[in-house]
Amino acid sequence: MIVKIGLSALLVSSALFATSDMSKWIRPQKVPQPKDNKLTKDRVKLGKLLYFDKRLSSSDAISCATCHNPKRGWTDLVPVSKAVGAGRGPRNSPTILNTAYQNRQFWDGRARTLEQQALGPIKTNVEMNMPLKVLIPKLKKIHGYVELFKKAYPKEGGITTKTLAKAIASFERTVVSTTSPFDKYAKGDKNAISKKAEDGYKLFIGKAHCSDCHDKFNFTDGSFHNIGLNDGDLKGKELGRYNLKHRAAWYGVFKTPTLRDVTKSGPYFHDGSVKTLTEAATICASGGRYKNGVKNLSTYIVDRHLTQTEISQLVAFMKTLTGPDMKLKIPTKFPQ
Ligand code: HEC
Ligand code: HEC
Repeated sequence: MIVKIGLSALLVSSALFATSDMSKWIRPQKVPQPKDNKLTKDRVKLGKLLYFDKRLSSSDAISCATCHNPKRGWTDLVPVSKAVGAGRGPRNSPTILNTAYQNRQFWDGRARTLEQQALGPIKTNVEMNMPLKVLIPKLKKIHGYVELFKKAYPKEGGITTKTLAKAIASFERTVVSTTSPFDKYAKGDKNAISKKAEDGYKLFIGKAHCSDCHDKFNFTDGSFHNIGLNDGDLKGKELGRYNLKHRAAWYGVFKTPTLRDVTKSGPYFHDGSVKTLTEAATICASGGRYKNGVKNLSTYIVDRHLTQTEISQLVAFMKTLTGPDMKLKIPTKFPQ
């Protein structure tokens, strides 16, 4: 018995001070890319034009960048996004930063790949409201695009829904985080972050249990959890992954978002209901916004009894996950 206590105490303390094992935070050498859509210059160039081209929407007024704006942390900084005709979808625009590393896209993970994801927003009426059977002929009339598709995807039938999705996904794979102060710290520069942020990091991987879910290079486990943002039976609220299949374990669960560049991408959570990182950290660290009666609350969401100082340390740490904006020339001229 004594040995057992000794051992678990040892494990706890080693978890708390495992600051030297930093390799898991370091970016994988290569951006994952599917076999049938390897990154090439021509594909990225084409995808970038499409991403910023408002003609992909029915109103010619909305592009992907309207809601995932590089100058706004690749989001739109509003709780839920305005769409064609001022309609609004129910969810907060997530950042597209590092989506290349995700094995599920959307808050509920309904798309697996960026290729599968890309056509969704074009079609839906709460986003670009553009039927693909209208869009493809529209693009085919733009001579410049015909040429660029031919160059990027020779022998793939020109402009099709497939090549369109592939090109946009290729550009998205280049939208990756830059070196943040924490990355320097993780590689051994102990002065790259403040003492307060370092204390926050220790809490993050220790007492506050944030890395139970916000783990690895992209600060997400790629999984889905109900963190108690809404109470009870979620009547009239979003059911998350449960909408895809009525599995009990999927009730009210949403994808763990990346925390990279998180200072740039508020408001937070799937419904954009939280403005500050302090409030977001408090909800996650205190057992959820609603503590009682939440159906299917994650067992990892427990009151960690943090002080205000500890919450502010966690926030200081999360701020070190922001790097400079990536270098990007936003297209101003589009194919004609
Ligand atoms: C009107 C606003 C709007 C427009 C326009 C829009 N999106 Fe989105 N995007 C959203 C919202 C809201 C979500 C989250 C929806 C959900 O999870 O159900 C989302 C989700 C995503 C995701 C998933 C990210 C993640 O972490 O799961 C990607 C990738 C993405 N959009 C790319 C695009 C691309 C590419 C385009 C253009 C073809 C586009 N979006 C156009 C609002 C928009
Ligand atoms: C059970 C897994 C889990 C744990 C533990 C957890 N989180 Fe989260 N976190 C999530 C999920 C899932 C979301 C998105 C939930 C939603 O929108 O419904 C989220 C959202 C966030 C957001 C908002 C990000 C955005 O872009 O919207 C922040 C900030 C955050 N968590 C910080 C923390 C901190 C700090 C801790 C530790 C105190 C923590 N989390 C612990 C799963 C977790």
